[in-house]
Amino acid sequence: MPHKVSLSRLKLIDFRNYAAASLSLDGRHAVLTGDNGAGKTNLMEAVSLLSPGRGMRRAAYGEMTRVGATGGFSIFAALDGMEGEVEIGTGVETGEETTARRLRINGTPAKTADELTDHLRVLWLTPAMDGLFTGASSDRRRFLDRLVLSLDPAHGRRASDFERAMRSRNKLLDEGRFDPSWLAGIEEQMASLGIAMALARQEMLGLLTRLIEETLESSPFPSASLQLSGFMDGQYSRPSVDLEDDYAAMLAESRYRDAGARRTLEGPHRADLIVHHREKAMEAERCSTGEQKALLVGLVLAHARLVGNLTGHAPILLLDEIAAHLDEGRRAALFDLIDGLGGQAFMTGTDRTMFSALADRAQFLTVADGRVFG
Ligand SMILES: Nc1ncnc2c1ncn2[C@@H]1O[C@H](COP(=O)(O)OP(=O)(O)O)[C@@H](O)[C@H]1O
Ligand SMILES: [Mg+2]
Repeated sequence: MPHKVSLSRLKLIDFRNYAAASLSLDGRHAVLTGDNGAGKTNLMEAVSLLSPGRGMRRAAYGEMTRVGATGGFSIFAALDGMEGEVEIGTGVETGEETTARRLRINGTPAKTADELTDHLRVLWLTPAMDGLFTGASSDRRRFLDRLVLSLDPAHGRRASDFERAMRSRNKLLDEGRFDPSWLAGIEEQMASLGIAMALARQEMLGLLTRLIEETLESSPFPSASLQLSGFMDGQYSRPSVDLEDDYAAMLAESRYRDAGARRTLEGPHRADLIVHHREKAMEAERCSTGEQKALLVGLVLAHARLVGNLTGHAPILLLDEIAAHLDEGRRAALFDLIDGLGGQAFMTGTDRTMFSALADRAQFLTVADGRVFG
């Protein structure tokens, strides 16, 4: 079993609908129940900010600050992390728009948010992800990259460096500045970053596929088969230097075409994650809504297991409205599966009785009007 990373304390100040809230957690799973609009998802969003990025809603920091607050928001957490006990503080100073949040780890300002991944990995599944298989490919790409990121924290840097290089190429082309050596320099950079991104995605999907295949019989959920598509398809077994050369050549050849399109038409930014329902041999987007949800739950939990196996530390799971639309038997199987991952899971719902199968494996908390009761 991987080591259990668990939050023991969480304090929110002027975060969303919480003026000031403090909760003590005992290391078990945390079930948060309360009426719609009580603040359950907000609380999970706060926990999601203990990972790099803008959290599970990908909201602007200004939106997270409580309406009516005079300053910004703060989140404090104490946890038994991957390197032992740690205290994390994050937030913004003012309610104004800002693109950066401050971050302190054991009182010391962190240089980058990536430092969080030394202490914990946070994974989530929210109702907003329900349309993942039928929605925009950009959402699946972001999902895919989050899966990679929780195993390989350097993936975020690669992706943002690639974006930056691509933007400067697009700008040169847009301005009609076809300086070959300048462009070639940028394209070479794009090639090495872009292929590294694609290979990291491919590697993660390979590991996840193997794990899914090993646990086929024991999973109460349908299993997914996973493919990358849209960039260097079927070529990932070739040496990466060859792939880089090919992609750089592709970019050099497509300068005029890309200038006309006003964007770069080929690259890892155009890749898509193709998911099939394995048992039915059906594309996920053509499965029923319920089947899609079950596939997604199975996929996210398989990934959580992979993170635990590879890092030795079970991730914190944020499972928003996870028990909705499941019958009692399925719910009990889901809770056993979640518990079997060995990590601390936060789960929300409107009704406490939905979680009764968890019994003493969970701590039950009630959320009402931006306050949390034990
Ligand atoms: N910045 C904010 N300031 C104050 N309230 C907010 C802010 N952002 C969202 N809210 C409110 O928080 C409430 C609870 O939201 P949420 O956590 O999503 O509820 P639920 O318990 O249904 O998951 C909503 O009524 C919403 O209007
Ligand atoms: Mg909610």
